[in-house]
Amino acid sequence: MSMDFTDQRLSYEKGALDQQSVPTSPFELLNTWMNEAIEQKVQEPYAMSLATCGADNKPSVRIVLMREITDTGIVFYTNYESAKGQDIAENPNAEVLFFWHELERQIRISGSIAKIDAQKSAAYFQKRPHDSQVGAWVSQPQSGEVADRAVMEQTFEQLQADYPEDTQVPTPVFWGGYEITVNEIEFWQGRANRMHDRIVYTQENGDSWNTKRLLP
Ligand SMILES: Cc1cc2nc3c(=O)[nH]c(=O)nc-3n(C[C@H](O)[C@H](O)[C@H](O)COP(=O)(O)O)c2cc1C
Repeated sequence: MSMDFTDQRLSYEKGALDQQSVPTSPFELLNTWMNEAIEQKVQEPYAMSLATCGADNKPSVRIVLMREITDTGIVFYTNYESAKGQDIAENPNAEVLFFWHELERQIRISGSIAKIDAQKSAAYFQKRPHDSQVGAWVSQPQSGEVADRAVMEQTFEQLQADYPEDTQVPTPVFWGGYEITVNEIEFWQGRANRMHDRIVYTQENGDSWNTKRLLP
């Protein structure tokens, strides 16, 4: 059954972006926009679409949660042996995308991915709720096929018995953080008549960034 959406259109009129008044560091703007998304009660504003592409040249995209903005990039956590982990091992280039409808904003970040320090991953893993820690052990290898839900639930219960609430769940070696070291960020603000504002920051050398406006 086909569906037609060609009559659906919204006018975007909530903001503007001016190349002359954006900060010199894209991280400053990223922080500002993230704070505004939190203030405007965007649900899970740190949920981002992560696109990767392995040696097979087939792009894959999925949502992950940004857990930190550092001075050089952004951090998320996952299973290193997942499909995305394999893509990243074969090709460290990746792009992430945030879209916040409430603010009519899109942020597109591209860069190079590397595993973060294992101790930092372990510190975060130990901060997670006990049963989420157990869940990480169940989902191994993440993205592998499982016969049915009952198999997952049995493993979950077995692990809960092995590691009761008051015991420490060991940090899996196959689980941890990745940092995307940013080399380009595009900020998109929707405007009326499809005359959207797009400002892209590109890294020049070291710490300095270039900005340019792109046609919408
Ligand atoms: C809102 C939301 C948040 C998610 N956060 C994460 C996350 O932080 N880490 C993660 O590994 N998967 C997360 N997932 C699940 C992924 O989208 C994906 O299903 C999983 O990581 C397997 O992806 P892969 O097969 O491409 O490796 C999230 C999914 C949703 C919808």
